[in-house]
Amino acid sequence: APAAALLSNASSLSSAECQEKEKPPKATEKKVTKEPKPNKVKPPKATGEKLHQAAAKPPKGKPASILTRVVARGRFQKVPDSLTLTAGDTLELRCRGRAVRWRFPAYLEDEDEGRLRCVIKHFERHSQLLVVNSRAADTGEYSCWSFQCRDSECQDGEDRTGKAFIFFTGQELFVPTEDYYEVVQLRTNHPTLLPCQVTSPLAKVTLHREFPPEEVAVDGIDISYDVKRGFVIHRPRPSYAGSLFCMASLDGMRQISTKYMLIYINYPSSAPKPTVSASAATVRAGENFNVTCTVFGEPEVAVDFTWEYPGQQIGRPPYSRERADLARRGGQVQQESESILYVDEARAIDEGLYTCSAMNLQGTTTVSTRVRVLPATPAPRGTRSG
Ligand SMILES: *[C@@H]1O[C@H](CO)[C@@H](O)[C@H](O)[C@H]1NC(C)=O
Repeated sequence: APAAALLSNASSLSSAECQEKEKPPKATEKKVTKEPKPNKVKPPKATGEKLHQAAAKPPKGKPASILTRVVARGRFQKVPDSLTLTAGDTLELRCRGRAVRWRFPAYLEDEDEGRLRCVIKHFERHSQLLVVNSRAADTGEYSCWSFQCRDSECQDGEDRTGKAFIFFTGQELFVPTEDYYEVVQLRTNHPTLLPCQVTSPLAKVTLHREFPPEEVAVDGIDISYDVKRGFVIHRPRPSYAGSLFCMASLDGMRQISTKYMLIYINYPSSAPKPTVSASAATVRAGENFNVTCTVFGEPEVAVDFTWEYPGQQIGRPPYSRERADLARRGGQVQQESESILYVDEARAIDEGLYTCSAMNLQGTTTVSTRVRVLPATPAPRGTRSG
């Protein structure tokens, strides 16, 4: 991937989502990196150094994560893949590197009584992300990248990344969303996500239909649940359409999620593959001809046709007719969609390329065919009388 594009992408993300402080002067930096040793606890420096050493010599093929968490003054912790904190806690993450970019849940850009709850500070050898007054909505993936920049050239280091999924548990069992209900398209052959994401990995989550009220079976094959994402409908079917919601229970608490209005859409598996043919490749002036564009595809998938033809510039008025029928082809029921362009009383201007564009939700495909127009047939000799 082009590194520059990646970098600019990441930088626009972090600056839009979280307040980034300018690189502080040297003095501040020293103050942060060299903290006073707490009396009873093991010297914090040792922990830090140990981490640095471990990172300097990563085991082959599996580089050490550059992400650490500050658990107390000067005490660092390797961040596990997933971590559960309590809403209200302060989260302090550090990412090793000279040029670091962060990614975190979108809700962190919200202000709390005019104060930003998320602050990023860059230091010479690391970057710090600090979240104060954490909330259920801050649940999600936190990740960082370290870039190597020389002059204006930046390289993204694929191996220099770190990420962790952090839950902020509390009174809210679901990560709050902005809307009371969400419209979700169920497209043929496309897995669909119902993002009813919980704030505790221990919550028991079930899926329910509103009308008629019933629990939807989650078998792990057609529908599965992922504690970090929500429910995934792997093979959408028209019968899943309707209003659904999730229910979470934990420690005697029971809550329901946002409602999801599921709408089924017959979605084509690919762009149309039209064929085009003229009733005759060569016609004589004055004769009628037509050009047919045909698409075989999945039933109940709409195909739109548009035409380009030589007479267009002078406003020649051919007309077209469309139809769609079900047809059996190779043991399968397919929809045959057709558009026929009619040209009456051909003229020299009608000679040229006839182009048909067929469009469905997956894309547009264009095909063309050429038609020649010869001068009108000379009148047969015998008919001219003197
Ligand atoms: C197309 O034109 C040909 C030649 O004039 C004619 O025989 C045929 O019936 C036309 N097709 C349709 C679908 O009208």
